Amino acid sequence: MASFPHYVKLNNGARMPIIGLGTWQAKEGEVKVAVESAIDCGYRHIDTAWAYKNEKEIGKTLKKVFDAGKLKREDIFIVSKLPNGGHHRDKVLHYLQQSLDDLQLSYVDMYLVHSPFSVVPLDGNEQLPIKDGKLVIDYEADFLDTWKGMEDAVDAEMTKAIGISNFNSEQIKRIYDNARIKPANLQVECHAYFPQIKLFQICKELNISLTAYGPLGNPSLSGFLRENFGINAELPNLLKDPALQDIAEKHQKTAAQILLRWLIQRGIIVIPKSSNPNRIKQNFEVFDFNLSEEDVNQINGLDRNHRLFEYSGVEEHPNNPFNIPF
Ligand SMILES: NC(=O)c1ccc[n+]([C@@H]2O[C@H](COP(=O)([O-])OP(=O)(O)OC[C@H]3O[C@@H](n4cnc5c(N)ncnc54)[C@H](OP(=O)(O)O)[C@@H]3O)[C@@H](O)[C@H]2O)c1
Repeated sequence: MASFPHYVKLNNGARMPIIGLGTWQAKEGEVKVAVESAIDCGYRHIDTAWAYKNEKEIGKTLKKVFDAGKLKREDIFIVSKLPNGGHHRDKVLHYLQQSLDDLQLSYVDMYLVHSPFSVVPLDGNEQLPIKDGKLVIDYEADFLDTWKGMEDAVDAEMTKAIGISNFNSEQIKRIYDNARIKPANLQVECHAYFPQIKLFQICKELNISLTAYGPLGNPSLSGFLRENFGINAELPNLLKDPALQDIAEKHQKTAAQILLRWLIQRGIIVIPKSSNPNRIKQNFEVFDFNLSEEDVNQINGLDRNHRLFEYSGVEEHPNNPFNIPF
């Protein structure tokens, strides 16, 4: 079988590994094991964010890996994200420096604006602060101003590339048309029930790579939304979809591996999260088989146009990215 590319080439010339380890919801104590296991089985890309509150532990683990001579800094691609409370030009370097300090790095490979929705931080909540049942929106912020701060971060050599996350097609175009340094990556929800066909096409036209978050349809999301936001969403479990189970059985693979392979065959970067060493290994074992055209068409047919991720209070935000289809 012809070898399959492990990287996606970015518009800054860098190569971004097509599989990375997701770390949202990776708890204290677990994330160390996750990062170590991932590196041992070949991952060279870690996705994190200021908001995940685990960058310190990731930093300690990376330091250990570098000190032991297992990897050099340039061997691994690190992504972090500006929190929603950081939407002002002069706040970008401040939050990025905090992430760099925690990660014990002098630069990240990719820094993303976590979302277009700007908030006023409240009680240490920089991501989705809620007061009197409402999201505390920062009406003063404009993400074009934030983007200038992102460009400052490249100039200051604190990041090699910059990108955006959770932006819709109109917002992407607004950044793109006004940017001195064009976004190199878009990170959005993307999986077989929400395959982002049109948004991916727009990204290709603009030479922006796409990273799929929730590539497995995050089976633990219903519990998270219930516990943290009191949202009772009965979300479908993508991993249990009978059509995927059939394709998995045919290839002697798991449904998770089929979902990841289908995305990387499209040229989409994936960042499955797991804190379990066996599943981390399993999620990386997707380079040794190929999905046929028939398999691909069958998975394409699972599209339900169903966003699984909900962001509390964002409907009222003037920059709500989810009020148009893509
Ligand atoms: N930019 C954004 O706004 C945004 C939003 C969401 C996520 N993200 C990023 O994208 C990453 C991935 O998304 P996600 O974590 O929401 O969802 P995901 O990767 O689709 O799913 C993660 C869930 O699947 C389980 N899992 C992992 N591998 C499995 C396997 N082989 N078989 C069965 N279950 C498996 C994990 O449990 P175990 O840990 O127990 O294995 C975890 O509960 C995040 O970690 C984060 O880095 C970004």
